[in-house]
Amino acid sequence: MNSRKPFIAGNWKMYKTCSEAVETAGKLVKLLSQTSDVDIMIAPAYIALAQVHEAVKGSFVTLGAQNLFWEKEGAYTGEISPEMLVSAGCTYVIIGHSERRQYFGETNETVNKKIKAAINYNLKPVLCVGESEKEREANDTFNVLDKQIKMGLEGFLHDDMQNITLAYEPVWAIGTGKTASNKQAQEVHLFLRTLIEKLFGKNIAESIRILYGGSVKPENITELMTMPDVDGALVGGASLDADKFSRIVKFKTVG
Ligand code: PGA
Repeated sequence: MNSRKPFIAGNWKMYKTCSEAVETAGKLVKLLSQTSDVDIMIAPAYIALAQVHEAVKGSFVTLGAQNLFWEKEGAYTGEISPEMLVSAGCTYVIIGHSERRQYFGETNETVNKKIKAAINYNLKPVLCVGESEKEREANDTFNVLDKQIKMGLEGFLHDDMQNITLAYEPVWAIGTGKTASNKQAQEVHLFLRTLIEKLFGKNIAESIRILYGGSVKPENITELMTMPDVDGALVGGASLDADKFSRIVKFKTVG
């Protein structure tokens, strides 16, 4: 058994109006009022952050954003700074999600800048990495991940790494209903942990949490969590429903 505390995070993507987000958050607070043995985060759309923060304040449910822009402030129409996220009550921020890489031109370089900005404001980054179906078929998975990690985390020190979480999200498994098998997930998680050990040493490698993401549901979480290097999940679709998400968070008892 390792000593890493499980971490279950919900990425609400571009779903839910403000009132819907507040309603779901309120249900989660009730359903998860006894669950202190798992770290819990939900990431609503920017516009709902402050209201959802009010709804989860004082509970075990913490707040995250889905993205940020790295500048402190300025003429950057449509962007949100790390300081603004902190003022809205965020603890975490998801960085480099594959949808941002795919549709919004995010690169390993911009991911690196965003993580730096998050750390400067004491936001905890959840760095997403993952290969596409084509890359997996071409046996390129480990090369792609190696690059995403080395470039994404370039210039970071041992201390910075203490607040970073990794999320392995194979692009072919996101929103498709296809989940990586437990064996596939474990193989990649072990690769990532070994890479982190090479880059930042044994202590960081042993303490960093690596989440799996891609069609996680109440039905497959328990098995996934039996894998020694899987420390939690980043959940999209199934996190939109309070009942389903809380069953995922309570994977130890629901099964
Ligand atoms: P999914 O999304 O659970 O709907 O596959 C996961 C994610 O994109 O984080």
